[in-house]
Amino acid sequence: MLSYQHSYHAGGPADVHKHLALVLLLRHLTAKAKPAAVVDLYAGNGVYALSAPEAQKTGEYQSGIAKLWDLPNPPPAFAAYLDVVKRLNPGILSLYPGSPEIAQRLLRDTDHIVLNELHPGAFTALKRWAGNDPRINTHKRDGLEALLALVPPKVRRGLVLVDPSFEMKTDYTEIPARLAKAVDKWREGIFMVWYPVLGDARHLPLLTGIAAIAAPSVIAEWSFAAAPDKGLKGTGIVVINPPWKFDSEMADTGKVLAKLLGGKHAMRWLRADDQAA
Ligand SMILES: C[S@@+](CC[C@H](N)C(=O)[O-])C[C@H]1O[C@@H](n2cnc3c(N)ncnc32)[C@H](O)[C@@H]1O
Repeated sequence: MLSYQHSYHAGGPADVHKHLALVLLLRHLTAKAKPAAVVDLYAGNGVYALSAPEAQKTGEYQSGIAKLWDLPNPPPAFAAYLDVVKRLNPGILSLYPGSPEIAQRLLRDTDHIVLNELHPGAFTALKRWAGNDPRINTHKRDGLEALLALVPPKVRRGLVLVDPSFEMKTDYTEIPARLAKAVDKWREGIFMVWYPVLGDARHLPLLTGIAAIAAPSVIAEWSFAAAPDKGLKGTGIVVINPPWKFDSEMADTGKVLAKLLGGKHAMRWLRADDQAA
């Protein structure tokens, strides 16, 4: 369908939640000297202008990044995330980093970034944004097809980001089915999946499907105090094969986020017995 455009939602509450989790995972990957790879299957434009008509029309960033931008003494995950946003915006907040920009800024010269995007306009913007960075490879494929085609990457330490627009209802069942195969192909890979929490709880088959995969997963869900866009009640991420201590770091980060922006944050292992494993 490809009617979704992330420029309407860039920097909104869902992006803030997702990108804080991404920053935590990237910090784990770069804590060891060995090279790492990030495979971003639904990469979007790379970076977004908050002055663009799309961002101005929804104003979602006003209830997301704009509320955190001037946070005094931010706790660790917030500090690293806000540092990326501030380095992109010396002065006033006018640009918002998409997941590719966050990966590009936090990864090292020896790391690899594989970016996939199917929308022609977003892909053109992404290619322009990527420039000649030798660490970056771009692909224009269907995300689900790319999940099996691009995984595992050559560098066997890393993260796959699955951040679809969920325009197809079948995504909620197809994604876990493909993820099961991808996890089989890359047992040590970390897989992060973003999902929307809507009134009809249509994300539940996604969670049931991921829980059936033979790998531990944690889930972090933030229920908004007020809905920033029609229908979206909250935002969630699932991380398969989370790094050690990611669960407690994400729980702490979510708690602060809910305190600052309202709503409730909950963090748990998808299957209760995985916590003890
Ligand atoms: C939520 S946005 C991605 C945002 C980005 N990951 C970030 O955090 O900055 C989802 C992206 O998926 C793209 N998309 C939609 N359907 C796709 C498909 N079948 N395969 C690959 N990309 C797709 C959209 O064009 C959009 O750019």
